Amino acid sequence: MEAVKLLKEDEVIGMPTETVYGLAANALSEIGISKIYSVKNRPQDNPLIVHVSSLSMLESIMPDNRIPPIYLPLLEKLWPGALTIIVPKADIIPSAITCGQPTVAIRFPSHPVARALIERCGFPIAAPSANSSGKPSPTLASHVMDDLNNRIPLILDGGQCDFGVESTVLDGLRNPPAILRPGGCTYEDIQKLPGMEKLQVYRKHFVDKQLEMMPTTPGMKYRHYSPEAAVVLFEHPVDGSNGRDTVAAIQKEIDRLIEAGQQNLKVGVLHTSDEFQDLSDNKAQIISQQMGRASHPEEVAKAMFVGIRHLDSQGVDYIFIEGISEDREGMAVMNRLRKAASTIIQL
Ligand code: TXA
Ligand code: MG
Repeated sequence: MEAVKLLKEDEVIGMPTETVYGLAANALSEIGISKIYSVKNRPQDNPLIVHVSSLSMLESIMPDNRIPPIYLPLLEKLWPGALTIIVPKADIIPSAITCGQPTVAIRFPSHPVARALIERCGFPIAAPSANSSGKPSPTLASHVMDDLNNRIPLILDGGQCDFGVESTVLDGLRNPPAILRPGGCTYEDIQKLPGMEKLQVYRKHFVDKQLEMMPTTPGMKYRHYSPEAAVVLFEHPVDGSNGRDTVAAIQKEIDRLIEAGQQNLKVGVLHTSDEFQDLSDNKAQIISQQMGRASHPEEVAKAMFVGIRHLDSQGVDYIFIEGISEDREGMAVMNRLRKAASTIIQL
């Protein structure tokens, strides 16, 4: 009730969703929207996702109350959930949400707290991820506190986010339909639905010079997911290699850094292979932890941002991360890690 009251007064608050925490405001309020941009220091040309709590709420914010038919089989199977769709913008949506674009991104979250909040408000809620701009997305209420403490009046604590990566942004208005940002809803689950047979993934199946320059191509124009420490990503070849290869490559990189004159080197390691060996007997100080099992990409997605933020809080100089294959949630994981990394080492 406190959260609803604040949102009705055009305030912004932290809200749990099943993907990542959101920074919520009334999507129909110009004042609330402008506070979202200033609180997280978000570039003014990066549009927001609008969250609804029912299909009828979606219809109420569509031009002529009409949902584009291409989306109907998807909404039936995949909503509520980690899928964001791009639809034509109606006049009721303030252009501050879409940064002047003719389309708007919409999602129906499954998290019970998010759903209850939107329902009680009776209006749609705009929410980007609740990190300060450029930082890894928050998957715990304490992450929102770390980034935005004193800048917002309330954070609803819904525990750890189930998915741990943001929603999949799907543009079904394009022909063929395209995933602009891989996320919690997998390519495999979307592609098998009617109308999605030719589904493409931006940057994987096509690139578009014009799209590349647009802030609406999620995560293309701006720096993303960057902790204080430098991230080094160790990528396995598509046909596979194992944890021993990663350990050897990590050791080589540590030796190289020390030879280059790095003093008191402190390294955090997030690994995904099971047969990963001990690195403790080392000239550098190492904090190593498993970021889920490579064979279970949903575990890796859930553990990724929380692992990066945890190691960053330990004051490491570098975070070394072992990549996984791009199957299922692995596509979103590798998309985020490649953007977070300042160096990528192919194994
Ligand atoms: O899981 C999520 O999607 C989370 C939770 C809070 O719902 N939200 C989230 O929001 O990740 P944000 O703002 O961090 O990312 C939204 C992405 C942006 O990269 C933006 O460029 C893209 O969606 N986007 C928004 N409107 C768009 C549009 N009209 N066309 C294409 N992309 C759009
Ligand atoms: Mg974000």
